[in-house]
Amino acid sequence: MYRKILYPTDFSETAELALEHIKTMRKLGGEKVILLNVIDKSEEENLLSTIFKIFNIGSKEREEIEKKLKDESLKKLDEIKKELESLGFEVKNISVFGTPHEEIVKVANEEDVDIIIMGSHGKTNIKEILLGSVTEHVIKKSDKPVMVIRRAEG
Ligand SMILES: Nc1ncnc2c1ncn2[C@@H]1O[C@H](COP(=O)(O)OP(=O)(O)OP(=O)(O)O)[C@@H](O)[C@H]1O
Ligand SMILES: [Mg+2]
Repeated sequence: MYRKILYPTDFSETAELALEHIKTMRKLGGEKVILLNVIDKSEEENLLSTIFKIFNIGSKEREEIEKKLKDESLKKLDEIKKELESLGFEVKNISVFGTPHEEIVKVANEEDVDIIIMGSHGKTNIKEILLGSVTEHVIKKSDKPVMVIRRAEG
């Protein structure tokens, strides 16, 4: 039975589609959901380090910016948490800085989940690409079953 579910989300449209499937898991024995958002270190590093350099921003301000990013991530996770709790799920939120696929595989092991449910694509959502790189890596590297929810057509 798939009692404990890991739902990694980048808050994209396709990830939201995956949430609908997680909700239906409640009737199929789903009890606990781990909500995970990874604040992409590489994206942050590339963009932020340039901005920090241009504007001569120090480490204290940098910490503040990172705290804001984390607060925002937790706030978004909390909205999903409330929605799932109202359906009777037990929910745990995790927001971390890192490389998305690595953190997803790590949390899946640490929390010993029964299944990972995620979108086929995320924020980038390139039309010609069959599967986003995060999902591809998770399928390759995790021992856990992965349910992939396809993006909307068009
Ligand atoms: N930063 C993240 N934190 C948590 N889950 C994520 C994150 N990024 C992606 N995911 C999960 O992976 C799914 C697929 O997203 P992915 O990032 O692989 O596609 P993409 O953004 O279209 O392509 P790419 O990232 O390779 O440019 C998402 O629907 C979501 O479930
Ligand atoms: Mg992505």
